[in-house]
Amino acid sequence: MNSLKVGLLGIGTVGGGTYTVLKRNHEEISLRAGRKIEIVKIAERNVQRAKELTDGQIEVTNDLFSVVTDPNIDVVVELIGGYTLAKDVVLKAIEQGKHVVTANKALIALHGNEIFEAAKSKGVIVAYEAAVAGGIPIIKALREGLVANKIEWIAGIINGTTNFILTEMREKGLAFADVLGEAQRLGYAEADPTFDVEGIDAAHKLMIMSAIGFGIPMQFDKVYTEGITKLESKDIRYAEELGYRVKLLGITKRSLNGIELRVHPTLIPEKRLIANVNGAMNAVVVKGDAVGPTLYYGAGAGAEPTGSAVIADLVDVARMQNASVEQRVPYLAYHDSTSTATTPILPIDEISSAYYLRMRALDKPGVLAEVTKILGDRQISIDAMMQKEPQDGETEADIVILTHITVEKNMNSAIQAIEALQAIDGKLVRLRMEELNK
Ligand code: HSE
Repeated sequence: MNSLKVGLLGIGTVGGGTYTVLKRNHEEISLRAGRKIEIVKIAERNVQRAKELTDGQIEVTNDLFSVVTDPNIDVVVELIGGYTLAKDVVLKAIEQGKHVVTANKALIALHGNEIFEAAKSKGVIVAYEAAVAGGIPIIKALREGLVANKIEWIAGIINGTTNFILTEMREKGLAFADVLGEAQRLGYAEADPTFDVEGIDAAHKLMIMSAIGFGIPMQFDKVYTEGITKLESKDIRYAEELGYRVKLLGITKRSLNGIELRVHPTLIPEKRLIANVNGAMNAVVVKGDAVGPTLYYGAGAGAEPTGSAVIADLVDVARMQNASVEQRVPYLAYHDSTSTATTPILPIDEISSAYYLRMRALDKPGVLAEVTKILGDRQISIDAMMQKEPQDGETEADIVILTHITVEKNMNSAIQAIEALQAIDGKLVRLRMEELNK
């Protein structure tokens, strides 16, 4: 059989990893794919560097469009990132009848609907395993391995940079700002680190998993996104004293009224496996009605792990190139999503969660009674409470309360009322909590 001819757009970290792994494991990969997978042309800004990397064996150009319009190329691998030029080249490749493999989560989360529509009408594959959780085959698991299940919820540590920062804050008691620089130096962070620390990168990945899990179109503007920049190491420490770890989680859940879709720092019981995923590693828990909770763990970034996912997609293209759209795995897992597509995404004040509250209160009789009354009046049940002794010379103490599940708008109303109490100093810290066991 003819080899699968690949045009590579970008040979930076992920492109380099893809090239290296494909070269090193080419025999095994060919046997599995049923044919050879061959990179025949590379578009790269730094032509000289690309030539050196590939020992002058592969044609290199700095013109992206000369790759996507090359009649010799079967599949375009888009690794340039961003969502303006990337969108144009991907749509052009599709128009030219080429299959596309991409690691670009922002592109899929923002423009996936249009891209898949165009791909369907041209009968080409658009594969994006590398877009979510790097080397972890979570797209494959969701679209294929768990196909029998009604997905109930998905929760993931899907940004390595923030997980690294949170791990350092917990283990060394450091402040957020002191750790960010180290994460950047280690090369985990996105080109713009606000995408990592404000939760936007995780939100892109969550949107993709939610679309596949629940049969909804991409609607990135509806993802509630809260990062870790305001998180204090004090809260990480108090959470730990209460048996919890704080992780930046992407959470999407099927509930009675719609779908929850949210990224925020979250307390998780430390006994859960996912609570012990540290450093830059990623992990995703998927709860299916038949299979129960399942956990997927691995490297969420890096040259070879992400290259591994890109090559898995190339093998799928090599195997399925001549199948019809109906015979292939659907882009977003559903051949027909007319009955699920309109399921509403719940606004954040309609979601249900348990909460961690930390407040600074005057250390005098009756204050706790006032606070618990406010919670009780709103049917918010307390799960645990902890008061820290005031330090020498201080008249105020930190009080931490963990609550049972309530609707977020009830909690908002309680927080407003507690902050209005004379004995309470300043704003409350509120973090959401998830049990992740059922
Ligand atoms: N900046 C991302 C992360 C890279 O930290 O996880 C992989 O998408």
